[in-house]
Amino acid sequence: MKGMTHIVTVLVACIAVICWIPADVAADDLEDRIVTSRAAVKSLAKNIKGYLKAALDASISVEEKLFMCKAGASEATSQEVDERQFSVGRTSLRVRNPENTPDEWEHAILEKFQARKDAGEKISNLEHAEMVDANGHTRFRYMKAIPVGQVCVMCHGKALDLEVIAALDKIYPNDQARGFEIGEIRGAFTITQPIK
Ligand code: HEC
Repeated sequence: MKGMTHIVTVLVACIAVICWIPADVAADDLEDRIVTSRAAVKSLAKNIKGYLKAALDASISVEEKLFMCKAGASEATSQEVDERQFSVGRTSLRVRNPENTPDEWEHAILEKFQARKDAGEKISNLEHAEMVDANGHTRFRYMKAIPVGQVCVMCHGKALDLEVIAALDKIYPNDQARGFEIGEIRGAFTITQPIK
């Protein structure tokens, strides 16, 4: 009987070890991926802002400025993807470019970000990371909220120039990314990494 208890104890201990070690490894792994994601988002934000500034400073038409933003966002994004081997982009509950439409998971996280902000949390705190299982695959997914700043309202705000409106209507006939105020959530950066 004593031997039996011993075996059970050993078994329980083994199961505990088997369960615990991978859990710890997974936690470290998740933390590493979060750190990398933060770096990717920071670098992407910086590069997109660079293109935005160049477009705003250039002596070109508003329409050409918008095209520069479009090309700049896409170039900065693919640069990040090439360097880091994972998919990164921007999304929003109200998109300008339909290619940035959130999928179901992203939509749910964007809604959670909005609820957290409504409950008083700072936008700079709004990030979310998770291992997501779907269709037999595990993917690491990460999102970080993007605030509306002063420079943004010129193209995403309420009182847009007629020239901006005309150019937006032409390039983005289904544009939903207008009417934002400073301090609101404009959208989020989103990262996906396949695990297996
Ligand atoms: C000169 C005009 C302009 C300014 C200023 C501007 N944007 Fe945009 N924004 C655009 C255009 C054009 C797109 C669509 C880009 C594309 O086609 O991928 C866009 C797309 C986005 C998207 C991707 C989601 C979507 O709606 O398609 C986000 C997020 C975004 N902008 C955030 C910002 C933020 C934050 C600022 C201020 C720091 C800002 N933008 C300033 C023109 C602008």
